[in-house]
Amino acid sequence: MSEKILEVNDLKINFHTDNGNVQAIRDVYFDLKKGETLALVGESGSGKSVTTRAIMGLLAKNAEIERGSIKFKGEELVGLDEKSFRRIRGSEIAMIFQDPMTSLDPTMKIGQQIAEPLIEHQNMSKKEAWHRALEMMNLVGIPNAEAHINDYPHQFSGGMRQRIVIAIALIDSPEVLIADEPTTALDVTIQAQIIDLMKKIQAETGTSIIFITHDLGVVAGVADRVAVMYAGQIVETGTVDEIYNYPQHPYTWGLLNSMPTTQTSRGTLEPIPGTPPDLLNPPKGDAFAPRNRYALKIDEEQQPPYFQLSPTHFAATWLLDSRAPKVEPPLTVQQRWAKYIAEHPEVTQQQAQPVEASAILTE
Ligand SMILES: Nc1ncnc2c1ncn2[C@@H]1O[C@H](COP(=O)(O)OP(=O)(O)OP(=O)(O)O)[C@@H](O)[C@H]1O
Ligand SMILES: [Mg+2]
Repeated sequence: MSEKILEVNDLKINFHTDNGNVQAIRDVYFDLKKGETLALVGESGSGKSVTTRAIMGLLAKNAEIERGSIKFKGEELVGLDEKSFRRIRGSEIAMIFQDPMTSLDPTMKIGQQIAEPLIEHQNMSKKEAWHRALEMMNLVGIPNAEAHINDYPHQFSGGMRQRIVIAIALIDSPEVLIADEPTTALDVTIQAQIIDLMKKIQAETGTSIIFITHDLGVVAGVADRVAVMYAGQIVETGTVDEIYNYPQHPYTWGLLNSMPTTQTSRGTLEPIPGTPPDLLNPPKGDAFAPRNRYALKIDEEQQPPYFQLSPTHFAATWLLDSRAPKVEPPLTVQQRWAKYIAEHPEVTQQQAQPVEASAILTE
């Protein structure tokens, strides 16, 4: 069993606004092990960035962590003072932010920006730090790095700038890298290159990664496990194989159904109709119910518990209750299931059982 680096337990975060309390994160549990990549997937506003900003101690001023715990190698991060966060941030947990341009200083040479954490955190000499910066530029695939170490950010293309951002994030050898939509601003070919680069660096360094994306399509090549978020909650989590090929939550079905694959032509893609709920007043039942054509009566009344399908697979949907009617998922999902069941016939023999939310934390 590999070592647990991060554990998020019963996290609840609100934002105080003029209109009231935005309940952005509602009872989130997940963990991350050494060398593992966990993908956080969900539509805009589902709480991916807020969750990870809480881990970095970088929540907005109007945020309040109402309850819960975030443990990094056993150390509690909730309530930690800014001085202690500065010790961890960057050097132990690093983050690539959603917009790569805003995380680079346009007035500073890139060599200096990459080397700075070494000079600041590790008291390295300038010469040595520049040497390491050059090595890192080579590692992230900036061609002819030596000739460009004194260039400024605007002299690079979008894809190269993202590589610089990755170099800065990784220079201090953090144990956890949080990559918040690191490829969305890039074209598909460059996206693939950046993802390959992150995997390569991970294989060399053993860094654990939280990879945030709204696109389930990019997850397969990146992650070991997936947590699907909706309206501030994790509605389904499992291995990549379980989420792709044996998904149980209608929201996950919707995400998969709206994703282009080699089999489906663009014409058959169906975006999920409707919009997420207002988190100023989250619904009392299942937050996805109004957009869910498989919704049951109970979904309006009561939030579903997690139902456990395997040691790693959990989904919060009443459809898994033993009393629920059998429904037919969308055709594309049925095809995935058929293949999965052929390979894992045992899954049809078991009735998923409701469990406490904390059960999704692995040993
Ligand atoms: N400072 C803030 N004040 C009030 N509400 C906020 C604040 N920051 C975030 N929120 C709300 O918290 C919720 C979660 O936001 P978050 O940024 O985590 O979404 P996300 O999943 O990262 O979305 P995206 O894919 O668009 O980046 C949203 O409803 C958002 O409006
Ligand atoms: Mg975000």
